[in-house]
Amino acid sequence: MKQYESFSYDDTQVIAKEIADTLKGGEFIAMYGDLGAGKTAFVQGLAKALGITNHVTSPTFTIVNEYEGRLPLYHFDVYRIADPDEMYEIGYDDYIDSDGVCVVEWAELIEDLFPDRYYKLTILKDEDKGFDYRKIILEDDKGKE
Ligand SMILES: Nc1ncnc2c1ncn2[C@@H]1O[C@H](COP(=O)(O)OP(=O)(O)OP(=O)(O)O)[C@@H](O)[C@H]1O
Ligand SMILES: [Mg+2]
Repeated sequence: MKQYESFSYDDTQVIAKEIADTLKGGEFIAMYGDLGAGKTAFVQGLAKALGITNHVTSPTFTIVNEYEGRLPLYHFDVYRIADPDEMYEIGYDDYIDSDGVCVVEWAELIEDLFPDRYYKLTILKDEDKGFDYRKIILEDDKGKE
């Protein structure tokens, strides 16, 4: 487990780059954090670090956005799915079996569909430490026994 402290959007970009630089492809990153925690901000940092120049926004209505970089990046936002089965309709199995990096906002809504090994990334606010403060926790060894 790794913990990071971010005091700004830009700090979060640096933290995301540090994590991106360790990725080899095939990872699944389940993101946890409230509305406005900075999940999309983190994915923007990941994308930049992977050499992706597109503007990254939450794929709330399309569920997934695909980007080509050093590794393919598949950015999911499952906030609006009504039923986890909708994931299969968009080809979820192919994404998680691919050599790309899958990163999922609101991952708690599809926990039953996680692959055997995954990263859990949690972004927490702490208003006592300032409006822009975020604690970012990475557990990179999660998996079903
Ligand atoms: N330390 C920080 N790290 C990341 N974002 C920050 C930080 N401080 C302030 N922000 C701001 O917080 C907001 C985070 O919004 P973002 O869309 O990334 O959240 P989200 O978790 O994806 O929300 P949603 O659940 O609605 O998708 C942005 O406006 C960003 O600039
Ligand atoms: Mg978002």
